[in-house]
Amino acid sequence: MKIIIAIDGFSSCGKSTLAKELAEQLHYTFIDTGAMYRAITLYLIRENVSLKNVEEINEALKNIHLHFETHPETGKSEIYLNDENVSRHIRDMIVADKVSEVAAIKEVRTFAVAQQQKMGKRKGLVMDGRDIGTVVFPDAELKIFMTADPEIRVKRRFQEMYAINPDITLDEVRHNLELRDYIDSNREESPLRRADDARLLDNSEMTREAQLKLALQWVAEAK
Ligand code: C5P
Repeated sequence: MKIIIAIDGFSSCGKSTLAKELAEQLHYTFIDTGAMYRAITLYLIRENVSLKNVEEINEALKNIHLHFETHPETGKSEIYLNDENVSRHIRDMIVADKVSEVAAIKEVRTFAVAQQQKMGKRKGLVMDGRDIGTVVFPDAELKIFMTADPEIRVKRRFQEMYAINPDITLDEVRHNLELRDYIDSNREESPLRRADDARLLDNSEMTREAQLKLALQWVAEAK
């Protein structure tokens, strides 16, 4: 039986890494919903859309088409914004600095959640984000809520970002993570929280292999 696996948690907890590995093992589709909010943010920044103006946002959303493609050589899932591959651009700090503000907007969430729910029609899906187990798929067969020590998360994200931009500092990364976690947890629309029936995975001291093994055990139990 194919199931839906919902993975939520704080920023830089390794949600996408685990989700990707699970999808690979199970031959499921992997969807990184953070990439969707980031691509929407990139569009709004490029088009100079005021985040205070609902009409402008609604107009902009009409012009946004998102889709994922798997890169034929690397096997990586890549996101396209109106047919442009924006997988790299969405990782820029300018997007990271604005994405939580954008993701708190009701109209933006309605737009993204509708697409995410459509993707779940066929099961066999691993989706990671902040509201997957609570809002997008409240009936998901397996829900995992990931967390890790904040300093460990800062170091992990710093390493990732440093590879793209060597000018980045640890403090910039720390500030961005703290701010996003705060906004994501305290917003009115679908705040980040652990679903009552989500399994807790604190991976501060766990290897990738150990996390995957545990999650696969949970999958077996959920089927
Ligand atoms: O997962 P990632 O860190 O790339 O997500 C970027 C931002 O997108 C988060 O900080 C959050 O504000 C927003 N997000 C969200 N709901 C989701 C996924 C991401 O609000 N399901």
